[in-house]
Amino acid sequence: MINDKKVILSGIQPSGDSLTLGNYMGALKNWVKLQDEYSCVYMIANMHTITLRQEPAKLRARTLSLLAQYIAAGLDPEKNVFFIQSQVSAHAELAWILNCYTQMGELSRMTQFKDKSQKHADNINAGLFDYPVLMAADILLYQADMVPVGKDQKQHIELTRDIAQRFNGIYGDVFTIPDPYIAPPSAGSNIMGLQDPTSKMSKSDPNPNGCIYILDPPEVIIRKIKRAVTDSEAEVAYREGKDGVNNLLTIYSVATGKSIDEAVAEFVGKGYGDFKAAVGEATAECLRPIQEKYNDLMKNKDYLESVYRSGGDTARRIAGRTLAKVQKKVGFIL
Ligand code: TYM
Repeated sequence: MINDKKVILSGIQPSGDSLTLGNYMGALKNWVKLQDEYSCVYMIANMHTITLRQEPAKLRARTLSLLAQYIAAGLDPEKNVFFIQSQVSAHAELAWILNCYTQMGELSRMTQFKDKSQKHADNINAGLFDYPVLMAADILLYQADMVPVGKDQKQHIELTRDIAQRFNGIYGDVFTIPDPYIAPPSAGSNIMGLQDPTSKMSKSDPNPNGCIYILDPPEVIIRKIKRAVTDSEAEVAYREGKDGVNNLLTIYSVATGKSIDEAVAEFVGKGYGDFKAAVGEATAECLRPIQEKYNDLMKNKDYLESVYRSGGDTARRIAGRTLAKVQKKVGFIL
């Protein structure tokens, strides 16, 4: 509890030129609804990002840009704590301790590790393998009750719960056991790639038309959606086997606030051309105010710096308390 409110912790990696539509619809958009009811702490997960090789200047720029995207998407800095993960050293310190309470076997079962090590076979570093332990430290340091994420992160949160329960089993009630908070797929927790609708929309999609970035100009968004892979049935319906259409219906539904059924009803008797044009327009329209606010915020770097500096102070205070407790428990002299 912080100020008598339950605690939420989540984060996004500053790994692309901007967030994807998947990050926005699966995570960020849902966070906006939580900011009044919970004590919300959001990090820019830059320590996770260096598990894949990065250009330092780009990583720095993307870190600030991600903060501006958080705020532009509707998260109010007066109501939420934002911080840069690498500025709170407790994350690395707790991750080390938790490493000693995590089994190699558990980490080798992580599907994201298997995927990423296949994609980056030339750089399967220890950080990539150990990444879920750092994520557990991120969550447990803030005694988070709930972790809002997209579906792809669920397995990491389950591992976090296992590690926390194991630690508590040995040392008493040290960590709050966090629950994942995942919207249903129809609400955007699993936005798929536009060119391959059987795998999640991702910044690392080799096909540039597969992924929409939230800062893409409207005409680019409309074009990418026009080229999205569908099927040969020419019927706008939400059912198994229609992965491409299901994904576009989900995007349309999240962008407009209409239910999937309402969306389907709207396109009865219409072809995929009309459907895709409407999805493209709706998506561009949903992102337009975010892009405007983002452009304004990026003109004021001093303001952005003041937000992450004061967020870092708060985060260090909260995280430091948990870290000290853990260090005492394991027998470190403070
Ligand atoms: P990241 O940066 O890959 O993604 C950020 C958030 O976006 C969600 N997401 C999606 N949701 C729906 N459809 C998609 N196609 C899609 N792609 C991404 C992710 O589920 C996530 O919620 N390890 C995390 C960052 C992290 C973190 C944490 C999260 C580090 N520490 C502690 C929560 C708590 C990651 O790489 O997310």
